[in-house]
Amino acid sequence: MTLNDIRSKFLTFFKEKGHAIIPSASLIPENDPTVLFTTAGMHPLVPYLMGQSHPMGNRLVDSQKCLRTDDIEEVGDNSHLTFFEMLGNWSLGDYFKRETIGWSYELLTSPQWLNLEPKRLYVTFFEGDDVAPRDEETIGIWQSQFVVHGIEAEIGKAGVDEPANGETGPRIFGYPKKKNWWGPAGVTGPCGPDTEMFYDTGRTHDAAFGPVCHPNCDCGRFVEIWNDVFMQYEKTSDGKYNPLAQQNVDTGMGLERMACIKQGVPTVYDIAEMRVIIQSIEQSSGKAYGLDDAMDRSMRIITDHVRAATFIIGDPRGVSPSNVGQGYIVRRLIRRAVREGRRLGITEPFLSKLSQVVIGEFGVAYPELESNNAKIVEEIAKEEDKFAKTIEKGLKEFEGMMADHVITGEEAFILFSTYGFPLELTQELVGERGGNLDVGAFKVEFEKHQELSRSASSGTFKGGLADHSAETTRLHTATHLLNRALKNVLGDHVMQKGSNITAERLRFDFPNPEKMTPEQIKAVEDMVNDVIQKDMPIHFEEMTVDEAKTRGAIGVFDAKYGDKVKVYFVGDEPIGYYSIEICGGPHVEKTGELGSFKIQKEEAVSAGVRRIKATVTGPKV
Ligand code: ALA
Repeated sequence: MTLNDIRSKFLTFFKEKGHAIIPSASLIPENDPTVLFTTAGMHPLVPYLMGQSHPMGNRLVDSQKCLRTDDIEEVGDNSHLTFFEMLGNWSLGDYFKRETIGWSYELLTSPQWLNLEPKRLYVTFFEGDDVAPRDEETIGIWQSQFVVHGIEAEIGKAGVDEPANGETGPRIFGYPKKKNWWGPAGVTGPCGPDTEMFYDTGRTHDAAFGPVCHPNCDCGRFVEIWNDVFMQYEKTSDGKYNPLAQQNVDTGMGLERMACIKQGVPTVYDIAEMRVIIQSIEQSSGKAYGLDDAMDRSMRIITDHVRAATFIIGDPRGVSPSNVGQGYIVRRLIRRAVREGRRLGITEPFLSKLSQVVIGEFGVAYPELESNNAKIVEEIAKEEDKFAKTIEKGLKEFEGMMADHVITGEEAFILFSTYGFPLELTQELVGERGGNLDVGAFKVEFEKHQELSRSASSGTFKGGLADHSAETTRLHTATHLLNRALKNVLGDHVMQKGSNITAERLRFDFPNPEKMTPEQIKAVEDMVNDVIQKDMPIHFEEMTVDEAKTRGAIGVFDAKYGDKVKVYFVGDEPIGYYSIEICGGPHVEKTGELGSFKIQKEEAVSAGVRRIKATVTGPKV
């Protein structure tokens, strides 16, 4: 089974169970200042889990592009990836535990679908605490599923009872919140107990990880394949868990992991689609995969990073390498891939060519990669070239530093931070010259800077869910008003090229050949403030993309929106609508809630693209 086969089986299965297939949302979250990338299938659906109605209905299924950078340093081992696809199905206040678990079992084990051996399946449940009780219902549903299919499923105690290795014995294990509760820690938003499904690879337990194996043991015998979350609580900013108005289901299956199991290969890098990329690296380097651990690791890092960079740059809201935000991550991914290439002896540019292999593998499922092909090649090639020049400069710097045959910790850190030399590279170079390097001093220097950057970034990058607070909602509405006013003042060429909202300000990028004059800025501000003064009502309607176009809506008429879209109207019939825009929301109910609007800054982002930062005061009290 290829990735395409598994993805399409998952979507078809849930379509047959009455789910609407929705396209993957962008990898770069819209209006969510708290994360750089979409990290789970539920992320773009938060407003709907919180109770808003979704234009496609209350049963949804998709394959969502995700990116996680927390473990970027682990990439290259057997299982870590930055970019991955998460298959998921959702009930927005519709079905709950019985249907979810029944379908999970059917999809996993039915010969028509994923056809896994039922006796290799193990499941977990939430064992209960002061917030929510032990999940008896989930236990009962799993037991009846297994028993109906001829398998005895006992409840086992993790680390004490040996998991079954046949058709009887412990198969269902309880864990505390740390394992069986989903909802990113420390962040507000929807959450709840979950049940996770594990596959027994049949590997022998490694006693280094504990006396007795269990599903969540890290020894490698069990692989987590699917997570069904029962989202029925909202975690509030004061740490309380309030019941949500509706009971939701949010599930997530790692597509690459499932492919690993179905293709019977030991690591995610061995699945057929990844091997095609690795083959191309073998050709560029003239080295074979599977002969040397260090070289394999380099090839895996390159494979992961080029895939991630291709998807980030090729996203409908794609970003290019830079020194900030998502752009910085793309830069790191490309540069690390180049470095690993050098370790394999590749000195010529090779990554943009490799991105073509990625597009060849994934372009059918993600057509945006095809349509952004030229941009992907250009950006990767540019970054490779830039980095090659930096390395050249770094080597010169290194030669100067080596005049005394010693590289101090501080010097090694300069090579690392300014020229992108990993410590190992500097070590290798020093070794070749027979010099000395103070590794301990480098580490001290490194830690010192880590601390600094961590405290500098902790205010903006918590790595959690959107905080749909009143401030961001107001700024979101202000963005619509600004978009309209800019069109009115500057002309119809204005459109949203990028938008980002924090609790303090909005940011809006748009094409315009020159800097705005003070008069134009004032005119735009006055127009937005006039609409705020008039306290116009805001409402949305759901309609087809064609209908939205006919009604004069602005926004992205992308296929990614699916059949029906939400259209937000500012104003009402007697006066006419001030703004009509395709958008997922949320928005304030009346424009008066914005208080007053001010443009704080107007500046260039790149040739022909301007950026506005603006604030609102909020309602007068
Ligand atoms: N949101 C759940 C996860 O990411 C399904 O595991």
